[in-house]
Amino acid sequence: MSAEPRRFLPLLSSMSRTHRPGRSAVTCEYRCGNACAHPAPNTSDNEYFGDVVKNVLSRRGALRAGAVMTAAAAGFAALPGTAAAQGAVPPALAHRHGSGRHRQGIDFEPVAPNTADAVTVPDGYEQRVVIGWGDPVLPGAPKFDFNAQTAAAQAKQFGYNNDFVGLVPLDSSGRSSLMVVNHEYTAEVHMFPADQYDPDNPTEEQVRIAWAAHGMSVVQVTRAREGGLKVVPGRYNRRITINTEFELRGPAAGSDHLKTSADPSGRKVFGTQNNCAGGVTPWGTVLSGEENFNQYFANASAVSDPVAAERLRRYGLPSGASRRKWERFDKRWDIAQEPNECNRFGWVVEIDPNDPNSTPVKHTALGRFKHEAANVKITKDGRVAVYSGDDERFDYIYKFVSNGKYKPGRSAHARRHNMSLLDDGTLYVARFTGDSPASEIDGSGTLPSDGEFDGSGEWIPLASGNRSFVPGFTAEEVYIFTRLAADTVGATKMDRPEDIEPNPVNGRVYAALTNNSDRGAAGKEAADEANPRNGNRNGHVLEWEEAAGDAASTTFSWRLLLVCGDPASADTYFGGFPKDQVSPISCPDNVAFDGYGNLWISTDGNALGSNDGLFAVPVEGANRGQVKQFLTVPIGAEACGPVVTEDVVLVAVQHPGEDGSSADPQSHWPDGGDSQPRPSIVSVWKRGRHGRPGHIGR
Ligand code: FEO
Ligand code: CA
Ligand code: CA
Repeated sequence: MSAEPRRFLPLLSSMSRTHRPGRSAVTCEYRCGNACAHPAPNTSDNEYFGDVVKNVLSRRGALRAGAVMTAAAAGFAALPGTAAAQGAVPPALAHRHGSGRHRQGIDFEPVAPNTADAVTVPDGYEQRVVIGWGDPVLPGAPKFDFNAQTAAAQAKQFGYNNDFVGLVPLDSSGRSSLMVVNHEYTAEVHMFPADQYDPDNPTEEQVRIAWAAHGMSVVQVTRAREGGLKVVPGRYNRRITINTEFELRGPAAGSDHLKTSADPSGRKVFGTQNNCAGGVTPWGTVLSGEENFNQYFANASAVSDPVAAERLRRYGLPSGASRRKWERFDKRWDIAQEPNECNRFGWVVEIDPNDPNSTPVKHTALGRFKHEAANVKITKDGRVAVYSGDDERFDYIYKFVSNGKYKPGRSAHARRHNMSLLDDGTLYVARFTGDSPASEIDGSGTLPSDGEFDGSGEWIPLASGNRSFVPGFTAEEVYIFTRLAADTVGATKMDRPEDIEPNPVNGRVYAALTNNSDRGAAGKEAADEANPRNGNRNGHVLEWEEAAGDAASTTFSWRLLLVCGDPASADTYFGGFPKDQVSPISCPDNVAFDGYGNLWISTDGNALGSNDGLFAVPVEGANRGQVKQFLTVPIGAEACGPVVTEDVVLVAVQHPGEDGSSADPQSHWPDGGDSQPRPSIVSVWKRGRHGRPGHIGR
């Protein structure tokens, strides 16, 4: 581990100003099709702003300025490894874990920000790659050969650019699990020898390799004796690719907008792509969000009908050739030839890893947008709520609530029943209102005893079954062109909603808003209470509580948990915790919870100049807001996935060395030497006694 000074390398000079801060141009090009370099597609005149109190941060900044100490400016924030980690604990946890310094699950020495080409973990912890790009998943998978990859090999091997990671236990002991992983996107300049790949003229085999490198993997894993996870051969192993059959289900299935020449039923789709994050359901399946699906299609300009053209524009579909040129090898990627194929992506998909022969589902009832993730909470009366964010500047946060009730258990019968719940219910979009300027944190670094919130919110219904609540839209149109429907009802334009997840311990919901450098730009919405900074480069984290603690409620209360960035900066806020005792954090993306209810956050595009990483932060008690960095990922990589259990942490290292190319690799992780970088899943554990792993954070 290298503890480098806090003022890191300047942002890479090759990074165009049109790309998001902290993110390489290569990542922007391949991951989201340069979404940030294009105007944000939400140009709706969305009338919500009048309700919202501005400048919450200037108010909070004044409260917090006194707490910013010079330590943060002189070096990475000095975290007390002992005293400050010994704060109060919520009564429920004190009951479970007794008193003492180990009770909070974050008792580790934070990792210093750095730019090392390595995964850096706290002292006393170990880490090892579980599986990486090209490693075998299915029987007969050949050994990975960077110089001679084939589509047939890739279809049996672990895909590219791992993002979401979910663990589905196979037995009650939890030792054996199915690890389900998203492969968000391909970056061909890293995947092929430079003299073999021409971005303007990819070969058909190279395109087919990319189709096989997308999708998802199911891999059986078990706890290694010494700690961490290892892959074991298993009958559940599965690859899902662009060629895997999916069933379109729910109220929009069979719509004319979903029919193509290959599928006149509008109910059968091959493949899933740009699967970003997701969630494990209580019934043991996995939800996965199709995010920047738009970039794979070509020739939106061929559509002249103004209504259809506006729909394509709002979803950012490209006018000319696509980046990867897939349209040359399958006409379904060409909007001029198959105008509806693009409507068959942008959904939440559900796969049942317990049944490797099952047909995965695309759930139209959850709406179509750039789904970052989808996470479930059971309502008080036993129904199912699903939270999902639309990851685009100025786009929205959504919730779906089922009509039917959850059947506990993970039997095949229960899974079938519960998967059907997501086909019938009500889709809502969120409106955040700031309404309580006199409330707030009291400046002492603790949550006020009355637990006041910054504002209130409302879930605005869009459609339920075949009934639309949006004037001018049929229900089918609400589900398929969800963004346009939400534009008309007063939803709050957010700073790129990423992962949204309910906390299983305190029941509140947490949303990562990664950044929005356009906030407050000329002609754009200015800061509001829920998106409190103009030119937001570092992102923030919101926390809300549904009315009566019920995920079915249509109103909620919310507050800011973190306003990320340099703790020495007046425009940052760490849940009221002293800012000289936190790790700097920038661009929150994926969130997860440990068994104590601590929030774990992985980052994407750190705008502070150091590598991305994984952070833990308590959300209760005297340590609320004490952000501690648990690990850093290699040069150019994004930290994704995270899974936090009692004895292992999993993180997906996505796009290591992304700013380079195979001709000039910027990272050699994980294989070292002069190897090409390989996106991989890493497991981390604490060294314990007698060669056994210890407890994470204790
Ligand atoms: Fe694929 Fe929103 O990150
Ligand atoms: Ca993400
Ligand atoms: Ca998550």
